Amino acid sequence: MDEENIRKRKESQNGSTSNIVDSQTKDKQPAKATVGLLSGICLIVGTMIGSGIFISPKAVLLYSGAVGPCLLIWAACGVLATMGALCYAELGTMITKSGGEYSYLSEAFGSLVAYLYSWTTVMVLKPSSLAIITLSFAEYASTPFYPGCTPPVIVTKSLAAAAIFLIVMVNCLSVKLANYVQNVFTLAKLFIILIIVVAGMVMLAQGNTENLSNAFEGSSTSVGAIGLAFYNGLWAYDGWNQLNFITEELKDPFRNLPLAIIIGIPLVSVCYVLVNVAYFTVLTPTELLLSPAVAVTFGDRVLYPLSWIVPLFVVFSTFGSANGSCFTAGRLAYVSGREGHMVKILSYISLKRYTPAPALIFNGILASIYIIPSDINTLINYFSFAQWGFYGLTALALIVMRYTRKELHRPVKVPIFMAGLMVLVSCYLVLAPIIDKPDLEYLYCTIFIVSGLFLYYPFVHRKVNWARKIMRPITMHLQLLMEVVPPEKT
Ligand code: ARG
Repeated sequence: MDEENIRKRKESQNGSTSNIVDSQTKDKQPAKATVGLLSGICLIVGTMIGSGIFISPKAVLLYSGAVGPCLLIWAACGVLATMGALCYAELGTMITKSGGEYSYLSEAFGSLVAYLYSWTTVMVLKPSSLAIITLSFAEYASTPFYPGCTPPVIVTKSLAAAAIFLIVMVNCLSVKLANYVQNVFTLAKLFIILIIVVAGMVMLAQGNTENLSNAFEGSSTSVGAIGLAFYNGLWAYDGWNQLNFITEELKDPFRNLPLAIIIGIPLVSVCYVLVNVAYFTVLTPTELLLSPAVAVTFGDRVLYPLSWIVPLFVVFSTFGSANGSCFTAGRLAYVSGREGHMVKILSYISLKRYTPAPALIFNGILASIYIIPSDINTLINYFSFAQWGFYGLTALALIVMRYTRKELHRPVKVPIFMAGLMVLVSCYLVLAPIIDKPDLEYLYCTIFIVSGLFLYYPFVHRKVNWARKIMRPITMHLQLLMEVVPPEKT
């Protein structure tokens, strides 16, 4: 790359691409710590609040069977997220490399497990989360146009596909624009959560508590169903590990990482429980289960004539999350491409716009494929199934490294039972739904994850020659088509 380009690239170093370039050059230049406590909290809160709190209440209620266990599960998910994040605080301050779980797994269990993680994340977790969020977006965007009935599937799926296209385009065009979209929409989601919570408090104060009495009647006792209820609640909390991807950019990480977690996650938990209480002040459990979009139904009952703000702001919230999810997905595919764990082209960066365009487009294509056959709930179940497998493995990595890597400095040290509990909970979460109802889909999901192993040996470990020969012209054509270049070498 010529000097002019290198200079321009350096100038444009802000946002995700800068992180990408930073992580590439980190051994030469100390990464700049720019993220303070408040921004850290905003990052956690902004990623966690997205589509889940507007979509999951239905499924959590359905699987838990009654209002009481439903609210308890929402609170328990908050506790789990906090505990998980505290374990990650220890890992993040002990191993300060970029890449979150990827670095911890590779440190504790070696390259193969890290590869499986990146394979699953790039092929399944990231695109499926983009698909879930855009489907929720589509549901809320279309519901107001079909009063009293559920919008046709073709409409929601086409809308979701359009949203994916738009978001990928924004992220490919400019890092600045994507950042801007993110910030504006984060404000929107806080606003709508606040409106719902306040409206709910007012309803409570007016004595609308009938749906909250006899709260445990009809509770579900099936282990598998409770597991599925957790999957859906935990989806709404997902994103609690986000700060770990930017530990290096955090000012005073030893103080701010745990503090942001201790402030941010309980804050979200309280909001989520209150939002659910708010829903129950006006909707009976049956009404909630029948509503195609809970928050819209709530708005119609409580906020009339201003009820239109609810779908509008939920649409903003989901759009913002989808944008954020796409943003980090680009970065992950980029990292694994760079490590040789994915095809190289995924790590390339747009010459003119400095965005990881190939990785973003790849993620968008996979997400569009995922929305075709599936509905939101099925996707959430598979997402949580695979994701909690890796959260559990990462907690296990913490325990293993307490013995194998005693020498590492641990500025934050959590009680080891916390990591143990995380491992146990994740075993439960991964196994209970399968044991209870052995759907073939979980098997497909597992086969898909494991199939990554068959690619590992020839393509990653041995780097067979013919694969390179085939990939070289393809990479070159794509490179010309998208005007992308390999990331700068230091
Ligand atoms: N909790 C978010 C939601 O409710 C989803 C977060 C997806 N995960 C992520 N790492 N971006 O929409």
